[in-house]
Amino acid sequence: MGTIIHNLSAMAILVGSLLFFQPFFPGAVHAAELNYKDALTKSLIFLEAQRSGKLPPNHRPAWRGDSALDDGKLANVDLVGGYYDAGDNVKYGLPMAFTVTTLSWGALTYPTELEAAGEMENVKAAIKWGTDYFLKASSHRDRLYVEVGDPVKDHECWVRPENMKTPRTVLQIDSETPGTEIAAETSAAMASSSIVFRSSNQTYARLLLNKAKTLYKFAKSHKGTYDGECPFYCSYSGYNDELLWAATWLYIATRKSVYLKYVLEESISASVAEFSWDLKYVGAQVLLSKLYFEGEKGLETFKNQADNYICSNLPTSPYHQIYVSPGGMVHMRDGANTQYVTGTAFVFSAYSDILAAYKQNVKCSDQQFDSTHLMTFAKKQMDYLLGDNPLGRSFMVGFGNNPPTQAHHRGASMPVMPANAEVNCPMSFVNWLNKDTPNPNELTGAILGGPDRNDKFLDKRTVSPMTEPVTYTNSMAVGVLAKLAAHKIT
Ligand SMILES: *[C@@H]1O[C@H](CO)[C@@H](O)[C@H](O)[C@H]1NC(C)=O
Repeated sequence: MGTIIHNLSAMAILVGSLLFFQPFFPGAVHAAELNYKDALTKSLIFLEAQRSGKLPPNHRPAWRGDSALDDGKLANVDLVGGYYDAGDNVKYGLPMAFTVTTLSWGALTYPTELEAAGEMENVKAAIKWGTDYFLKASSHRDRLYVEVGDPVKDHECWVRPENMKTPRTVLQIDSETPGTEIAAETSAAMASSSIVFRSSNQTYARLLLNKAKTLYKFAKSHKGTYDGECPFYCSYSGYNDELLWAATWLYIATRKSVYLKYVLEESISASVAEFSWDLKYVGAQVLLSKLYFEGEKGLETFKNQADNYICSNLPTSPYHQIYVSPGGMVHMRDGANTQYVTGTAFVFSAYSDILAAYKQNVKCSDQQFDSTHLMTFAKKQMDYLLGDNPLGRSFMVGFGNNPPTQAHHRGASMPVMPANAEVNCPMSFVNWLNKDTPNPNELTGAILGGPDRNDKFLDKRTVSPMTEPVTYTNSMAVGVLAKLAAHKIT
């Protein structure tokens, strides 16, 4: 009932080419007026609003309180903490890990820019909120807790997490019930974050890296797709991308040849046109391209695949395959589409930096695209979300011109109540979801699901996923917003 079903059945299937034209909107918001630093700050405030567990004193969204303090009890483990993924109160392991990996990637790609914006500590805190939880969830050998909450029961009650009474069912993967995607993604999250913490806390960094290694071993030795998070998060792409992604991060974190050997000799890779919580080939390919330019000759295939991703996304490329709306937004599917917008922007931004550093271009048939061209496209995608679009409005709550007011989000949409308040579940939908009024609590910084393929948008809480935020849309925005805040891109 009103939550995202992340149905990616059309996974990476390439849509026929569309004519692209340079959009011009009279009276629209101009990119030059956008305050990227403000957008960056707010992106991180949204992630704080998604925190589950016991909140620290410096927690910002004032309307949030402690929640789910008994999580894990049903399985006799401590699973307090972590993140709610979207507008409901379930903690899903796969997208949570992807949120942490992409935040870490952003922090490692743009450290100077994040420091300059004064946001590095907030990014690290956002990562740690996830990694502290994963340390708890992986405390038993060959077992990883991957979900807390019952999505069906959760969706029968429109209640803020602070007041929920719905069951906190615990799901796990283990040697009998493998889940290679989640284990490998969690490994990638731990490996990438260990590099982030290396300079500030060696002990913590080592803890994360050791966990990354054991999760990778577990993922590889017990292969299988876990469908326990389906139909909400079903892996359509299989686990080869997560294994490549984890091995790549582990190689970057350790420089141990065993991980590179896996990448070179055993991994399966593919050319794809998207970067998402289910499909991360191109993330690994971009990281491996950097190693290729540094002299690791065996990695050329990955560099070519990264190029293919660029060629299938750039509207001016002869191999262009991804639909772009008349207003200029990448549109892959009607389901929290903005995740593909920030994902595309981030991959383009990260790859453009690597190309610039090694003076490389991307070749798409007879056309060459340089780093500037890639970054301009990344900026266009972010500008669209922040207000430079046919509606002249922002799709980030609390930011810019005419931002959305009805985020599909339980906590934001109902008033703060005493901890012991009883909520009548059937009435909760009438009282808080279905009212056509602004949310009483501003879900600052949330990038909502966003407009459809014709650039149309309805600011109504009931219209999910158009008005529903997800953590990974924001996590993928952080790095590229830091870059835009620090550098003048035209
Ligand atoms: C470093 O991390 C360890 C392990 O989590 C923790 O016990 C310690 O307090 C941390 N040190 C600092 C200075 O934060």
